[in-house]
Amino acid sequence: MPILSATNSRRQAPVDFLPLQGTDYVEFYVGNAKQAAHFYKTAFGFQSLAYAGPETGSKDKVSYVVRQNKLTFIFTTSLRTGNLIADHTYLHGDGVKVLALRVDDANSAWKETTQRGGRSYMEPTTLVDKFGEVVLSGIHAYGETVHVFVERKNYAGVFMPGYREWTTRYNPPETGLLYVDHCVGNVGWNQMDPWVRFYEQVMGFRNILSFDDNDISTEYSALMSKVMSNGNGYVKFPINEPAEGKKKSQVEEYLEFYNGEGVQHVAIATKDIISTVTQLRDRGVEFLQVPDSYYNDLRDRVGHIDENLDPLKELGILVDRDEEGYLLQIFTRPVEDRPTLFFEIIQRKGAKSFGKGNFKALFEAIEREQSARGNL
Ligand code: FE2
Repeated sequence: MPILSATNSRRQAPVDFLPLQGTDYVEFYVGNAKQAAHFYKTAFGFQSLAYAGPETGSKDKVSYVVRQNKLTFIFTTSLRTGNLIADHTYLHGDGVKVLALRVDDANSAWKETTQRGGRSYMEPTTLVDKFGEVVLSGIHAYGETVHVFVERKNYAGVFMPGYREWTTRYNPPETGLLYVDHCVGNVGWNQMDPWVRFYEQVMGFRNILSFDDNDISTEYSALMSKVMSNGNGYVKFPINEPAEGKKKSQVEEYLEFYNGEGVQHVAIATKDIISTVTQLRDRGVEFLQVPDSYYNDLRDRVGHIDENLDPLKELGILVDRDEEGYLLQIFTRPVEDRPTLFFEIIQRKGAKSFGKGNFKALFEAIEREQSARGNL
């Protein structure tokens, strides 16, 4: 059928209606932004970048922006009660509010996503100062988390209009953290598939990997996880949902203490995980520990790796493999008093996805801590 084959030969890959250039920043709503910024500088090696507050015309809130390579974090605190930021902190404790994504056209990003059913958080808004303009827009995601689209191609200032440069004499060295690898969301019972559909339909993501409760279960608890990725793979958002087990799962513990759905962990890439984790540990970052037995059959499970086992074992770094290579990863303990948000440090050596072997080791480590908190 010549007509059909002619049609086929002209068929193009579907156009990515939401081209993303990566994560622009992660904004945390916290109880005390000044001290949070100090902690991330001291413990993680972030550098002071920008500040907004009453002195820059922001009457009711302050924000400190810190950066390390392509990783930008904002810590924001309300100066008063009775507003959305104060309410967020009261309800959730310190946590992630904004996963901001870099785009070429924030107007188009807003139009394409809201047309597909995304609920608007911020209509396209142009911010201007003497360094140029930044266009922001945004949509709601799970819980109170939002995605802000950031168009900054016409901006030459230090961060964005409304902020001034933040310089200080206190500049601890960096620790080799490079960029956001992925951000994981915890959602409620039966909510994983609706959020998978949201990322597929509203944002054009694909489900690249799924783990069910047979893959991810321990003696006591279980969860399900689906990994969503945008077209170029720069942005990955795995979604976790609790599953029935003998006891309360770690996702349920999170939902209880966060008072709802939210970001469970932010994974940060490094080129040298042994060096990065050694420095983080020396600077007070606490990591989950895996039992020594995890390393006994490691080479049988993952095959050849370039690293010596001793430092991996000493630091508690996990190793896993997908079809394309392997990855090294480790998880911090929660970084606030509520058992909610934590970080992952990850080094990819060929692997672009995730293996399932580490999940069990991770969850058993979390459960030991959950049990110590009396929440298992
Ligand atoms: Fe992760």
